[in-house]
Amino acid sequence: MAADQVIIESNIISNNKTAGILIVDHSSAANVSDDPESEPNPDNVSVLDNVMLNNGYQTIPAIKGLMALELKYLEPDVVHISKGSGNCIANRSRYKTVGVGDFTDCDFDNTDQIITYLLDTPVAPREIAASERGQIAYLGVCSGCHSYNGRLIGPSIQTIQALYFDNPEGLAAYIAQPIKKRDDYPEMPSQAYLGEETLQAVAEYVLSREK
Ligand code: HEC
Repeated sequence: MAADQVIIESNIISNNKTAGILIVDHSSAANVSDDPESEPNPDNVSVLDNVMLNNGYQTIPAIKGLMALELKYLEPDVVHISKGSGNCIANRSRYKTVGVGDFTDCDFDNTDQIITYLLDTPVAPREIAASERGQIAYLGVCSGCHSYNGRLIGPSIQTIQALYFDNPEGLAAYIAQPIKKRDDYPEMPSQAYLGEETLQAVAEYVLSREK
């Protein structure tokens, strides 16, 4: 979903009810964060050599609809639904596909020649100004478990704002030493390692976020 620069190669993909490989954008799922800064499309995805067996044997109506548009009635291996670009597929006739009309034929068959994905010259460490600290901690740490308007691992930021709107200090204190509050959620791990200044900055940032 919305992943870029992905190479799918040398897998055995079997016995998946809906499809073997599903390449979709954010609008294909409810409850995905609508961060205005996120790019919702999967771009530059390359589907290379994979062994696909017994996929799509009980697929969903949305995919059946897509297949009907292409006059296909099959158990799909590869399904693509998005406005993404730069995607490709190698040797497409070996797969049962839906929605890959705009995929080019990949201009490479495999990644055997790639020894490392690390850059030749490491990127210099980033200077983080004090004013950016809250946002960077939020995006780097909190957003993995909290989304603005839906449940992820933890409750939504909207829920948190309702609880702490006038109390950034209380929020900073909670995340430094979380206590178990909700029976239907796991425990939140302590964020004390961020240090007092960043805890306060991220608390203020979370309460000011509007999306
Ligand atoms: C590994 C997942 C995870 C990360 C990372 C995480 N949280 Fe949480 N958070 C949770 C879970 C799970 C809960 C619910 C805990 C409960 O109710 O017992 C929670 C609850 C909370 C609450 C609710 C407190 C209350 O009084 O109800 C706040 C506030 C919060 N998190 C803020 C943050 C902030 C800010 C960050 C980033 C610095 C963060 N969390 C990072 C999982 C996470």
